[in-house]
Order: sequence, then structure tokens, then C-alpha cells
Amino acid sequence: MLGFEIIGTGHYVPGRPVSNDDLSRVMDTSDEWIFKRSGIRQRHYAPEGVGASDLAVEASKRALEAAGIRPDEIDYVVFSTMTPDYIFPGPGALLAHKLGLSGTPALDIRQQCAAMLFGLQIVDGLVQSRAARTILFVGAEAHAGFMPWEDWDALEPGGRSVSPEARARANKHRALAVLFGDGAGALVFRATERDAGLRGIKLHTDGAAAKLLYVEGGGFRSRPYWKHSDYDEQRYIPTMDGRELFKFAVTRLPECARALCTETHTPMDRIDLFLAHQANSRINDYVRDQLGVPPHKLPSNIDRFGNTSAATLPILIDEQTRAGHLKAGDLCMLLALGAGVHWGCALVRW
Ligand code: ACO
Repeated sequence: MLGFEIIGTGHYVPGRPVSNDDLSRVMDTSDEWIFKRSGIRQRHYAPEGVGASDLAVEASKRALEAAGIRPDEIDYVVFSTMTPDYIFPGPGALLAHKLGLSGTPALDIRQQCAAMLFGLQIVDGLVQSRAARTILFVGAEAHAGFMPWEDWDALEPGGRSVSPEARARANKHRALAVLFGDGAGALVFRATERDAGLRGIKLHTDGAAAKLLYVEGGGFRSRPYWKHSDYDEQRYIPTMDGRELFKFAVTRLPECARALCTETHTPMDRIDLFLAHQANSRINDYVRDQLGVPPHKLPSNIDRFGNTSAATLPILIDEQTRAGHLKAGDLCMLLALGAGVHWGCALVRW
């Protein structure tokens, strides 16, 4: 049976880091509140005119270089984002073109923060069916477009202060806005005869909870699909029920991990590394405690990037690989939950 291995990884984040104190220039917030509630110290934002596909190109180039292969050796692209360059077509086609590919299939998936888990199942299927041998998987996000302020210069150190009206508008969305950051992560998967790849996976979706995190404005239920009122009433900014999502994550993720271990007859302590989506460090601390996993086995980078949605797991995997913490033969559990609500976990032999 064919398995897969990751032969190259890369990530890219745009611009300078924007600290929690920088955010306090456009809304009423503080480093203390943000760090205590989420573990986040800073994040990056894509500049005006830079889309998820642009961030993805940079991450992909780094992953291809690490893999030591040319773009034309890729025979399938899987792109995941919840912040696409255009409503359609998806950014997979744009990325493939920017890498100089023409005719290579590019699939867009939109499972938000859980995209990497769904992506693993797709990669496994492509490899097992021999439809593809070398697959570029990318997660990239440009959340900057839904941030609730417009004066980006005000974020710069020494920037002018925003009007009381602008501050009040941003405050309405502050619990959401402080969490998200931009970036891209890319992984080059290759089919292998080696004893590596997916050992088990559990994926779930519950659309009854879709409105826990969603963008109400700008959809094809309305004619036209974009209205002035979507902008005036800030319906382009996601609505999030943070508390309910938090509860959802801390119950479903441990449940999922335990079920997968039972199904695959894998004792939890045999797992070398837990690679978890970074939505909030308190969620991951709770999941870790529930599963009895020691802190060094569940790495975190949310302090530097915030929640980068679909990009998070690929970025984390790149960092762990480059730091030498992920080696061939390691048994890893990946865990994630995202808007949809989609969630899941997977066991992967590296
Ligand atoms: N700065 C300062 N104060 C704030 C901020 C802020 N940025 N945001 C909210 N507050 C205030 C609120 O106004 C409220 O004040 P009040 O008590 O006077 O009304 C108080 O802080 C508490 O607000 P809550 O929203 O109840 O804070 P909570 O402790 O629930 O933390 C948070 C909010 C951080 C969003 C938390 O609920 C969370 O992380 N939830 C999970 C979110 C998540 O996982 N999202 C993404 C998952 S899916 C995906 O990644 C696509």
C-alpha cells in the first residue's frame, strides 16, 4: 500500500509583526487582556493588494526549495483558505499560475481552520488511487480584509489616533479581531513505499453550528450578492460566538482524539507529537490536560502569529520540521476545529 511523506515545508508571513499594544491604538484593548485570554502577543497582516494566493506563492517556493524539486514536478495542488482573493475562481488556480504551472489540477477546499485535516484525507486518497504522486498542499489567509478598522497607518508606532466613531466601530468586533493574523504554510507531499502516512483519521461536520462563526454579508442568497448595507452595517466582518466555539472545541477535540486512539489501538503516550490548530492557547491547554499530554509534546506558536486559520497547521509543521522536532518515523496526532463547524484529528506516521 502506498503511503505519503512530507518532503518539503515552507511558510511566509507578510510585513512587520503588529503587537497587542499596536492594536490598542485603534480599539479599546490591551496586551494583558489579549495575552491572558488567547496567548497571542502579535500577528501579521497582508498589505492592501496582497491576497492569499500571493502569500501562498512565497510559502510554496520555500517548500519546493526545501524539497529540492521544481514546480513542474507537482502533479496536484490543494489550496485551503477562508479568505480567497476572489469569490471565484478559488486561489488554487491563481497559485498554480503564479508558480508557472499550466494544466496541473488545482483543488480549492474551504474547511477553514480544520482544512489541513480534510486535506490529509484528500492527499491520502490521491496517493492511494495513484492519481497523483507529488502534491502541493497550501493553507493561506489574508484576514486583514475583514478587520474592523480602516486607518491602517494608525497601527504604526507613533501613528495618529483614530476618531471616537472609528474606535467605537472597531470595539464592536474586538473579541474577534484580536485573534486573527495572516500568513501561509506549504507542504510538499510525495507518495512513498516507506512505512509512512495516514494511520487513522476522524472527520466531523455539524452545520447546525455554522453560525457560531460566519460572514453574513456578500453571499448569493441576495440580489445583488453584495449590498451597500453589507458594508454600512459591517456584515463583511465575521460574527463569532467565541464562548460557544470555545466549549465546542474543548469537548469535541478530546472526544475525537480518544476515539481515534481507541479505533487504531494507539495508546496516547505512544504519540510523539500533537500538532494542534492554534485558535486560542487556552483551548489547547485544556485539550492537553484532558488527554494527559505533557506540554513539550504539544508545541505552540500562537504568540507570534495569532490564529492563521487554514495556514496554522502548515506553518506549525514547517517550524517544527526546521527545528528538527519532526523526524521520519515519528507518530503524530493532528487536531483542528474550524468554522462550519468542521473538526477532526488524524494519526500520521512521519
Ligand atoms: N480587549 C478587551 N476587552 C475585550 C476584548 C478585547 N479584545 N474583547 C472582548 N472584550 C471584553 C468584552 O466586551 C467583555 O466585556 P464585558 O464583560 O464588560 O461585557 C469581556 O471582555 C469578556 O468578553 P467575552 O467575549 O465574554 O470574553 P471571553 O472570555 O469569552 O474570551 C475569546 C473571548 C478570546 C474570543 C474566547 O471566547 C475564545 O477564544 N473563543 C474561541 C474562539 C475561537 O476558537 N475562534 C476561532 C475558531 S474557528 C477558526 O479558527 C476559524
